[in-house]
Amino acid sequence: MHELGRLEDLPQDYRDELTRLNLVPLWPSLRAVLPPGVPSRKTQPTFWPYKALRPLLMRAGELTPMDKAERRVLVLANPGHGLEKMQASAAMYLGMQLLMPGEWAPSHRHTPNAVRMIVEGNSATTTVNGEKCPMERGDLILTPTGQWHEHEHAGVEPVVWLDVLDLPLIYFTETSYAIEGKRQEVRPGRGDQAYARGGVVPSPMFERGEQPYPMLRYPWSEARAALLALAADRPELEAVQVTYINPENGRDAQNNLGFHALMLRPGQTLRLPVRSPAVVFHQIEGSSQLSAAEAAHTLLEADTCCAPGYTEVTLRNLSTTQPAFLFMADESPLHRKLGVYENRG
Ligand SMILES: [Fe+2]
Repeated sequence: MHELGRLEDLPQDYRDELTRLNLVPLWPSLRAVLPPGVPSRKTQPTFWPYKALRPLLMRAGELTPMDKAERRVLVLANPGHGLEKMQASAAMYLGMQLLMPGEWAPSHRHTPNAVRMIVEGNSATTTVNGEKCPMERGDLILTPTGQWHEHEHAGVEPVVWLDVLDLPLIYFTETSYAIEGKRQEVRPGRGDQAYARGGVVPSPMFERGEQPYPMLRYPWSEARAALLALAADRPELEAVQVTYINPENGRDAQNNLGFHALMLRPGQTLRLPVRSPAVVFHQIEGSSQLSAAEAAHTLLEADTCCAPGYTEVTLRNLSTTQPAFLFMADESPLHRKLGVYENRG
């Protein structure tokens, strides 16, 4: 590609006149916005060890009471975007949230789509549009766009979860806002019960459900069992992976971000395909070595890492006797909707 004219090649009076009229010449910036072959990415491979993060989160529990925080969160920010932008990638936000025993994070709803991956603690619940979801280690709980949600904790130990939102995307499109609400009334019926078995869905009086979010809690015990069953059934299968879906229509569980669980067999090394979306990795069980671009990190339980799109990522299970389990969040539904999704193999 040949070089194009630079801004400094233009006479100052011409540049001043353009600025006065809110005009910009394209050619000095053309290669920056349309780089050859591979997009430029601000997202850097970034690693957040839980062991280092946890004491700071617990200290936030002492420093900032709930009524001064509303949501007590330390944001996992990617330095490539600038920490003040509070984004893990172009479209993903990550936050580690703490709820102390007896606390209540009040009901609200907002335009960004959120999920939470439970990291530690028991006996907390998230109520989503009246459905009370227990929170246990490794569970995935959806709070899709516009759904009321609140968190409360009746246990004795702190509860921590990882929030994953499409906040940077919704904020970028100037559609991000929240509405405060009052305590929700709990209604009967739970999606994790109604859709507990694969291959069948509830169809009272012959009618099929058409809700956009029929299932709000995906218990880790079920996802883990599915991975173990898949691994046993297909010993030759390289990537033992499942995707969280809407059980009524098989589409992605949420609008913009995709959620997956991966099992690495004992001692396995897995090279992931080079794809367009950025990916977040969270170690649920066991330990893995993650290599992305020049960076390599050891992921112990509850550690989180992110890798930019168009990047080669290799995962290795550090145990030769036990499987390792990871949760992954990515931007694949968004890329597919935009028509820019790529899998370069
Ligand atoms: Fe929220």
